Amino acid sequence: MVIRVHQTPTAVSRLNSITPSRIEVVPVSIKVSVFVATSLDGFIARKDGSIDWLTAANASVPDGEDFGYRDLIKTVDVVVMGRNTFEQVLTFGEWPYGEKRVVVLSSRSVGIPDGLTGTVSSSSEAPATLIGRLSRQGAKHLYVDGGITIQRFLAAGLVDELTITLIPVLLGEGRPLFGPTGRDVALVLAGTRAFECGFVQLRYRVGKAT
Ligand SMILES: NC(=O)c1ccc[n+]([C@@H]2O[C@H](COP(=O)([O-])OP(=O)(O)OC[C@H]3O[C@@H](n4cnc5c(N)ncnc54)[C@H](OP(=O)(O)O)[C@@H]3O)[C@@H](O)[C@H]2O)c1
Repeated sequence: MVIRVHQTPTAVSRLNSITPSRIEVVPVSIKVSVFVATSLDGFIARKDGSIDWLTAANASVPDGEDFGYRDLIKTVDVVVMGRNTFEQVLTFGEWPYGEKRVVVLSSRSVGIPDGLTGTVSSSSEAPATLIGRLSRQGAKHLYVDGGITIQRFLAAGLVDELTITLIPVLLGEGRPLFGPTGRDVALVLAGTRAFECGFVQLRYRVGKAT
């Protein structure tokens, strides 16, 4: 009989040296990515939630340029988004996530349209609890979206990669991408790309909190 034990990678290497061979240690490894566009002054939406400035900027983007989104989403098992983002996406008319599993975070009950109940669910779990559950269900890569939601995952030290596409506009005010973290969060630059249309993309790996 094989006993499956879920442990973090660090604990795994320690356990492997002391456990009998019939115990198989299964690391809980799940990658959490953020992929988001912000104004140069760091807002993801206006105060009222609108992203008209982003839609306007997209008019200058050449056909077929998606800034790497399709490559990212192909590898994502579960999209995790805040209620505000979910409600905004519903106004787009067309559901952009196809058959991809989506978890909407909210402390209240979330109205999920009938056509989406097969893939969309809601949860009020804290980031660590949610990641633990999704990992046990086999998820390997989460895409976390929505400003408040991203801030909560960052504050919990649970984001691995941040891809931020800077849009050349200052909004002055709005809903910020970042907020209080409770401590410094070190970032390691993993790549930059400048696009002819004026967008600049920054990719960071999130280092250990200090
Ligand atoms: N520029 C971009 O690339 C981009 C990307 C995504 C979104 N947006 C825009 O940003 C806006 C939404 O961002 P936002 O910062 O307002 O909010 P958000 O993160 O989408 O949603 C925040 C809400 O999510 C719920 N929530 C998050 N984590 C939770 C948890 N662990 N447990 C329970 N509930 C949790 C809470 O809902 P309750 O209040 O119901 O408890 C919270 O008020 C929208 O306008 C959207 O269009 C822009």
